[in-house]
Amino acid sequence: MYILLRSFLFLFSPEWVHYFSMNTLRALCAVGFIRNTICSFFKPALHSTLFRTSHGTLEFKNPVGLGAGFDKNARYLRELECLGFGFVEIGTVTPKPQSGNEKPRLFRLPADKALINRMGFNNDGADAIAQRLHAWQIQQARHKTNRLIIGGNIGKNKSTPNEEAWKDYEICFKKLFDYVDYFVVNVSSPNTPGLRALQDKDSLRQILSNLQNINASYKQSKPILLKIAPDLTTGQVEDVIELAMEIKLDGIVATNTTISREKLKTPAHILEKIGAGGLSGKPVKERSTEVLRQIVSKTNGTVPVIASGGIFTGIDAMEKMQAGAVLVQVWTSFIYEGPGIVKKICKSLG
Ligand SMILES: Cc1cc2nc3c(=O)[nH]c(=O)nc-3n(C[C@H](O)[C@H](O)[C@H](O)COP(=O)(O)O)c2cc1C
Repeated sequence: MYILLRSFLFLFSPEWVHYFSMNTLRALCAVGFIRNTICSFFKPALHSTLFRTSHGTLEFKNPVGLGAGFDKNARYLRELECLGFGFVEIGTVTPKPQSGNEKPRLFRLPADKALINRMGFNNDGADAIAQRLHAWQIQQARHKTNRLIIGGNIGKNKSTPNEEAWKDYEICFKKLFDYVDYFVVNVSSPNTPGLRALQDKDSLRQILSNLQNINASYKQSKPILLKIAPDLTTGQVEDVIELAMEIKLDGIVATNTTISREKLKTPAHILEKIGAGGLSGKPVKERSTEVLRQIVSKTNGTVPVIASGGIFTGIDAMEKMQAGAVLVQVWTSFIYEGPGIVKKICKSLG
């Protein structure tokens, strides 16, 4: 049924469809349709406890999460919970609100089951998002178990020079601290000029150690993870791993989108017309899994990895978990396969 709906939705601009679909889901959730008929399932076998912190671990009702950038402003948490996600990563959040790059900035590549985006961290800013999360937390207080886990993906404003980037991460960290379950430091988006240079060891050490020090000063610390690009060389991934082990990072998200355009079925002239941006979906899967394998093998599994990149089916998710991932995230497959994707993957994992 979704295939039919998809042919209709794909007639419109991807960004417009994104908000239209989420608002429609909101209406369906409000009348109880989604919760009661589509996604009501629970499998104890999928439950896991991960990321040990000063006050215990996080409980994930299932290992399928939504990648950052889908609900940048934490506006659709109830709807996403209704769809069965075990966790949702909001953001990327920056200290000040910013509108992102000029539209159009999101493109479909149906022949490759892929997307190219150059959104540029469009978001409402840390204050507004913290307020929204606070309201969500109040609503959630009655759920003692099987709560939706929220990750806070944080970044820097476009106008902040790289030398001062650590301050932006600190601001976001402090503002969101009370409202998220774990943090992801995003230094791997290709759409903020210069951001990916922050993946070098010294910059990473500065940003991460500062956050870890602040974290340690709170009564109950939160897991801090790092999200890396699939375009790092083997040597660069090695550096990240060494640092992660040295500073005892809580985990890595592997990976973000790629700037590569290799092996695509989409004709070159269309790619040229689309222009710059991060490629996601099926074409990124293989490289993301390679990075995941490198991390798991080098760390002996001591640094937990959340797999992100090209997960469309239960088999894809299984492959990532067999490669050593503790959790998986979907994004592009949600657009191509529809909202039933979580249940489908969970069913085959269970
Ligand atoms: C439109 C779009 C926006 C994204 N925005 C962000 C973002 O703000 N922060 C981030 O860390 N990742 C962002 N991502 C990357 C995804 O979270 C994910 O890591 C990537 O798309 C690979 O997964 P996929 O192949 O399942 O889509 C974005 C992806 C897309 C398609």
